[in-house]
Amino acid sequence: MIQVCRTQEELHKTRQAHGHVGFVPTMGNLHQGHISLLSQALSDFDIVYFSIFVNPKQFGPTEDFDKYPRTLQNDLDLIEAEVKKHTHKQVVVFAPQTPDEVYHGFSKTIKVTGITEILEGSIRPGHFDGVTTVVYRLFDLVKPTKAYFGLKDYQQWAVIKKMVQQEKLDIEIVGMPIKRSTEGLALSSRNQYLSDKQKQDALMIINTLNEIKKIIAGKKANLALAQDYIRTKLEDKNWDYLTMRDYLSLSEDLKSSQQITILAVYRMGTTRLLDNIQVEIQ
Ligand code: PAF
Repeated sequence: MIQVCRTQEELHKTRQAHGHVGFVPTMGNLHQGHISLLSQALSDFDIVYFSIFVNPKQFGPTEDFDKYPRTLQNDLDLIEAEVKKHTHKQVVVFAPQTPDEVYHGFSKTIKVTGITEILEGSIRPGHFDGVTTVVYRLFDLVKPTKAYFGLKDYQQWAVIKKMVQQEKLDIEIVGMPIKRSTEGLALSSRNQYLSDKQKQDALMIINTLNEIKKIIAGKKANLALAQDYIRTKLEDKNWDYLTMRDYLSLSEDLKSSQQITILAVYRMGTTRLLDNIQVEIQ
């Protein structure tokens, strides 16, 4: 069963009737990546809250806020189809009519430092302040026990984990594996901006990440070789970045890291494609 709340007041009334809940925050335009988060949340909880809100605070002035696809009816159909697979479960969708339904009664900006200025943060100044502020606010409204995020937006996951620790929120942050097309392209709402040819060419991103993982072969001693390979790849100026980082701090210093994440952003025309893979090293 699904119930849709369009206002903060409706959400508040509905939430009062429920105990522990799981939470999946999204900006809508759902694909199987989002549905995998919902599926996990429905396995863990009888009641799952799911938000669909294109948050203006996380878009820069030249970014695609107005163009961002809003597909509420289709999103609700996908959610409904997933809930039907889980017996006796319920989803409450919070799809605020306006940003005011999220932000009224709340004027803080939640900032996390040290991890938000690098990578995406250096290319999209202020982006993570918008993300941490909306996620904090949604947590405040939904009061979940666990919240689910896709690891495609890897830095976002790391930033939210840090935010939860900084703000001492008693919420478990779950990072769910990237969903890919059968060929291997990481699913993203922004893939619809790509032509078939671009989608095919974009497979080079995951192939590059896998090649780096292969060079590392689980050994810290091979990181220098991997770095040389990355350097040659970066001659193609369409990479915004291609970099090996500690999996949690996102630091470039890997001396004491046992798990690293290789993060990539490649520009295909005007679309930025994010991907990453994780590698254990000894
Ligand atoms: O990943 C997203 O869709 C958004 O950044 C989030 C976490 C829902 C916050 O608006």
